[in-house]
Amino acid sequence: MTERLATRLTILLGDDLVLTGAGIAPYCRDWHGDVQSDAVAVLRPRSTAEVAACMRAAAALGLGVVPQGGNTGLVMGAIPDAPAAQVVLSLERMTRIRALDRDDFSAVVEAGAVLEEVKTAAAAAGLFFPLSLGAQGSCRIGGNVATNAGGVNVLRYGMMRDLVLGLEVVLPDGQVFDGLSRLRKDNRGIDLKQLFIGAEGTLGVVTAVSLKLLPAPEQVATALVALPRLEDVMTLYRRARRDCCDLMSAFEFMPPLAMDLAREAMPDLPIPMTGHAAYALIEIAGSGLVDAGGLMERFLEGAFEDGLALDGVIAQSGTQAANLWAIREGMNLGQAARGRHLRTDISVPLSRLADFVAEAEAAVLAALPGSLCVSYGHVGDGNVHLNVLPDPSSPAEPQILAAKKIVNAVLDRYAGSISAEHGIGRLKREEFEARLPEVNRRLLAAVRQAIDPHGTMNPGCQLTPS
Ligand code: FAD
Ligand code: LAC
Ligand code: ZN
Repeated sequence: MTERLATRLTILLGDDLVLTGAGIAPYCRDWHGDVQSDAVAVLRPRSTAEVAACMRAAAALGLGVVPQGGNTGLVMGAIPDAPAAQVVLSLERMTRIRALDRDDFSAVVEAGAVLEEVKTAAAAAGLFFPLSLGAQGSCRIGGNVATNAGGVNVLRYGMMRDLVLGLEVVLPDGQVFDGLSRLRKDNRGIDLKQLFIGAEGTLGVVTAVSLKLLPAPEQVATALVALPRLEDVMTLYRRARRDCCDLMSAFEFMPPLAMDLAREAMPDLPIPMTGHAAYALIEIAGSGLVDAGGLMERFLEGAFEDGLALDGVIAQSGTQAANLWAIREGMNLGQAARGRHLRTDISVPLSRLADFVAEAEAAVLAALPGSLCVSYGHVGDGNVHLNVLPDPSSPAEPQILAAKKIVNAVLDRYAGSISAEHGIGRLKREEFEARLPEVNRRLLAAVRQAIDPHGTMNPGCQLTPS
């Protein structure tokens, strides 16, 4: 049956667009390698018109379409869950930068452009595209839009939603929503592009994006600071808001285990300090006459005087700054290498972040004494990845499930979100639906029904198909 469908797709679309056989395995595996699924085929269009043709072919055969960018998503949104009834539609061949305009501070790029390449192109024009995340060498702009990606610079520049001026989207019936505006202000009624941002491919295929660019920050100061206790991270953050407010571009926190995990993943990485209760990675960026380095020094002097900082290092070169960021990124790789574990993506009100982490970690460790909690993330956004590495001496899965229940129970008391930046996908659907008010459910279902009446787009992602 699957083979017959694949053959019919090939007849409708031609050999070049339809990939089948062993080559499709990587498109059906999640980034951590926790799940290996399958698909009828992988469709690889080269243009918006070809995406529309793919949508029409899938609709004709009654197949669900799972859009895929870099496949770095962490919630199984880009992996089929009904292999005999779904195709993956990869944007990997649509990577062109269609336009980059210095005077408009904007760029129009195709959805398959890799984030890092967009950043590099902006920099080559003396501009800056601020979205920054560990997966930026592989994730693609369309995926960033579809997940409303966050990352480490959100506290200054906002999430992907704040960086999008316009979108081009192929709808489930093959029609093109042509909204590639470069206007900064436009209040002509409901802003339709917003529907597709964060929709995780459930309403259409993003094929191109008009992006907001900024002047390049000419001066960047990066520091790693060791703190006496986790709660001091919040005190230091409030102080940084006061002292460096508009120029602070990142404020991340990491636990003691960060250094070990980063070293495990990158044995040659210089680690400037170990053995402290908590770490903050802080970045200040500016241009023109601003003295970012001087500001960072004065800010840290005050922190040392008040006992908020026990040790610290300010990067003296771009390479040193990159090495400090590599610790933050190495943490993710180190955790992945330790095998299956609970990954969360939680936000709580800023003022409650330290209390939440302390309470949730204590509850997990009381129930699972052999496990390790790794809490880190984006302090300025109240966003913590409270991950749990199971005790290796007993089976991982029951520990992961138990830890998830415990963390979510604490989270519900803090009125937080189970998904601050990664989305719902298929992994968090149950948690999401269990907390979804009836009015929200009806609105979401109505939007989906209006745009995708046959349920073609990413079925099973975000909501259980009705
Ligand atoms: P994919 O994984 O391919 O897809 C993600 C979702 O978007 C799926 O539902 C898919 O169907 C849909 N989709 C993809 N492309 C399109 C399209 N063109 N049109 C419609 N729907 C589409 N995320 C953060 O927010 N902040 C972080 O700091 C962060 N750090 C990460 C670090 C690492 C090491 C890794 C592996 C991931 C990280 N992520 C982070 C998660 C991930 O990188 C982001 O969610 C990213 O935006 C996904 O982009 P992608 O191209 O890989 O999308
Ligand atoms: C990070 C990803 C996991 O912040 O969101 O590293
Ligand atoms: Zn994150």
